[in-house]
Amino acid sequence: MGKQGKAVVKAPIDEVVSDLLKAYADEWLAHYQYWVAAVSLKGVDADTFRPVLMKMSQHELKHAEKLAKRIIQLGGKPVLHFEKLLATSGCGYIPPPEDPTNYEQLIKDILKAEACAIKFYSEMVEKYRVTDVVTHELFEELLEDEVEDEQIWEDFLAKL
Ligand SMILES: [Fe+2]
Ligand SMILES: [Fe+2]
Repeated sequence: MGKQGKAVVKAPIDEVVSDLLKAYADEWLAHYQYWVAAVSLKGVDADTFRPVLMKMSQHELKHAEKLAKRIIQLGGKPVLHFEKLLATSGCGYIPPPEDPTNYEQLIKDILKAEACAIKFYSEMVEKYRVTDVVTHELFEELLEDEVEDEQIWEDFLAKL
């Protein structure tokens, strides 16, 4: 990122990068959590949930990409070693249920991941409101998406 672009960031850049990396790892793990659930699902409702999971998994990957761009702009690097994703993440990873027809558990686990992201992103929106407007707006955009995701899964859960 250019000199002026960095100069307008009033927050410590290392701290911003570290928060962005946490989100980046969370998004990657959410991407994988939903993707692997989509490919493993079985049972009568599999055809309903599979495309939703696949689409959402792509959205989370897109989130990771946006975060990576901001990390690089600030002079940081995305997580380069796969085994470090879990340690870097804030929300962790929940594997799909052993029973590939247990939609209720699957959805509850997805809701946990979304709730964790919503909580973290709303903290980040507040934290960088004044000190790093670009990062603030990125987190705001992600927050809006996760709020929508949560609603989608809450509606599914209510219909089970
Ligand atoms: Fe996301
Ligand atoms: Fe999400």
